[in-house]
Amino acid sequence: MQEDRAHLAEQTIEQYEKYVNPAMARLFRYMGLATVEWEARGCYITDHRGEQYLDLLGGYGMFSAGHSHPRIVAAAKKQLDRMAMPSKLLLNKPMADLSQLLAEITPGDLVYSFFGNSGTEAVEAALKLARLAKKKPGIISTKGSFHGKSMGALSATGRDIFRGPFAPLVPGFKHVPYGDANAVAEAIDEETAAVIVEPIQGEGGVIVPPDGYMRELRRICDEKDVLLIADEVQTGLGRTGKMFGVDHDDVVPDIICLAKALGGGIMPIGAIVARPSLWDGFIDAPFLHTSTFGGGPLACAVAIEAINVTRDEKLCENASARGEEFLTALRELQSQYPDVIAEVRGRGLIIGIEFTDGGYAGYTISEMVNHKVIAAYTLNNPKVIRIEPALVISKEDTDKAISILRKVIAAVAELKDDI
Ligand SMILES: Cc1ncc(COP(=O)(O)O)c(C=O)c1O
Repeated sequence: MQEDRAHLAEQTIEQYEKYVNPAMARLFRYMGLATVEWEARGCYITDHRGEQYLDLLGGYGMFSAGHSHPRIVAAAKKQLDRMAMPSKLLLNKPMADLSQLLAEITPGDLVYSFFGNSGTEAVEAALKLARLAKKKPGIISTKGSFHGKSMGALSATGRDIFRGPFAPLVPGFKHVPYGDANAVAEAIDEETAAVIVEPIQGEGGVIVPPDGYMRELRRICDEKDVLLIADEVQTGLGRTGKMFGVDHDDVVPDIICLAKALGGGIMPIGAIVARPSLWDGFIDAPFLHTSTFGGGPLACAVAIEAINVTRDEKLCENASARGEEFLTALRELQSQYPDVIAEVRGRGLIIGIEFTDGGYAGYTISEMVNHKVIAAYTLNNPKVIRIEPALVISKEDTDKAISILRKVIAAVAELKDDI
């Protein structure tokens, strides 16, 4: 059977070359990743040849419940057999149930939900809601942030390499250094509607802000009557060891953005949940911001089960425990090889290893692939490799990943002058 599939890698890479993007085809070959993903369970992906890879990337954070979680797959199949997409005219019970569940699990008085199909769409909805509610255009974001790549979300994203070619972007956005609450206070003016921030910058290179940063932002936003949008697309639903990143500071944002893990690794979905006082504009005109696919019964049934699994299987607790094991081992490696690893940062199972040189990061990724472990860079910082496995990862797989990382980093240290 697997022999029948032997030609698949070559055929697929040729298709990438001809029909997708030749540069991507080259990159896959260079990274030793010219192999076709075939099936996946838990923390493992099996390729077309039957080779198994331990997945430390977790689909950029979308596989919090692991690949193909049986309960989430079953929920999807059950809903799929009934109805996948919404009629848009009759009442949609899975969406109503999910809205109620989100109101229950999100902090404080976040109550009303809107659903799209990605993190970017969640951010777009949050930005539009903020402007509508405050009747002002100004948005303050942070340098190095990642909020998506549509024109609105990209205007919030703080990386010039993604922004430059598409200028002019949406006006009214300012970017201040991340982790510096005073810089936000100074940037707020009479035109400011909202501050948008990630509780930990994921794509920026897993940047953990100083303790109390979100609390201080909350205080400043309250004082200046500005909304606080927490972009928890990557940190939400257990990734940091608590249900939401803002929970570490006991902060209630005005709007929270969710996606990735909310889809249970099965369906695309994005959501915002907001305070009732902001929703007046959407109550006056419920069709002001809409999405055809958004809130579909299949995606919502899956999201409900993803949340139930997160709670029933104590994924926050596991993220915290396994995250500590990774962090401790990686910090030991950093002190052993300071010429190779500049810093190790993270909380729960969102961890970044910052290398002293981008070349060492690239070499580490391809060596890990040779050891059948998948990891990748953060989008905004190619010196940083992220460790972002499924939150269901076992102690055994954590130990296995750490021992491979030890071997690979030791090899990098030995060869570093030639890399
Ligand atoms: C914090 C954050 N916001 C928004 C996005 C965009 O999400 P999506 O790629 O689902 O559109 C991402 C994606 O990595 C993200 O990390």
